[in-house]
Amino acid sequence: MKGQILNILRTEIGVVSGGALSMQLGVSRVSVWKHIKKLQEVGYDIRTSPRGYLLIGSPDIPYPWEFGELAPKIHYFDEVGSTMDIARDLARNRCPHFTVVIAGRQKKGKGRLKRTWLSSEGGLYFTIVIRPKVPPAFSSRINFAASMILAKTLRRMFNIHAMVKWPNDILVEDRKVSGLLSEMDAEMDMVNFINIGLGINVNNDPTLHEPAATSLKKILGREVSRKDLLRTFLDDFEHALNESDLEHIVFDWKRYAGTLNRHVRIVTSHEVWEGLAVDVDENGALVLKLADGSLKRIIYGDCFHD
Ligand code: BTN
Repeated sequence: MKGQILNILRTEIGVVSGGALSMQLGVSRVSVWKHIKKLQEVGYDIRTSPRGYLLIGSPDIPYPWEFGELAPKIHYFDEVGSTMDIARDLARNRCPHFTVVIAGRQKKGKGRLKRTWLSSEGGLYFTIVIRPKVPPAFSSRINFAASMILAKTLRRMFNIHAMVKWPNDILVEDRKVSGLLSEMDAEMDMVNFINIGLGINVNNDPTLHEPAATSLKKILGREVSRKDLLRTFLDDFEHALNESDLEHIVFDWKRYAGTLNRHVRIVTSHEVWEGLAVDVDENGALVLKLADGSLKRIIYGDCFHD
């Protein structure tokens, strides 16, 4: 109902009467008034007068009702520990495919390799529950699809040269603007769920603690709408998952990769490898050409570009 009220207030020019709203929506004027009051409480600037309601401004907060048909599957929280934990509980309790958990801030944001992900106000922090029809061996395709589609969405929306860095970071001008963390729950031949967690530095400033990071605000010199970015990315990603079995996703991903043909250093929990990044194979492993000319496949690790 809140989404429908906002739609009408956004399309009509000028003040919209309570009567007109209640007639269009098929609910009482009191019910309209209660929803308007709730919207005002959470930050919408709606002027009320004896003539009706006028929407002056909306907060840049990704509330569920801002997502159209996806709204029933969107869970928004001002603050959580980590969206990964909430998404895992929802997934174990059989929430539907493409359920999305979003947080304004995270107190215990998780990064790859057990690091923390600083999650201050202004960034986008969300986890999507995916129930793919692929065997566990192909699960990394979902990660490659998510990072490539985010890079494409950022390029299209902001005209910036977003690149993917193996395995799934997004860089702009060699600085990290987004990171991806995934969790899978699977049986021998069937994936129950893959949760894709994305942190995007949008209007926050991560550089104080993370010199190698940047944000869209820093790159563009202005604030951008987190709501529009998330809506566009979710539409693009859902569309890609519906349209394709992602068989060629790694091949497509490589067109956006900043890691290939560069000298890189890969740090795993117990090893360090250096060499020329020559390829990413169809399972997502990075292929390094070592100093002695031999090839080494690496399936996880931190990648540093020289
Ligand atoms: C990385 O680059 O290390 C991955 C960072 C992933 C951060 C996101 S923010 C939303 C989701 N919730 C978390 O706790 N982590 C992921």
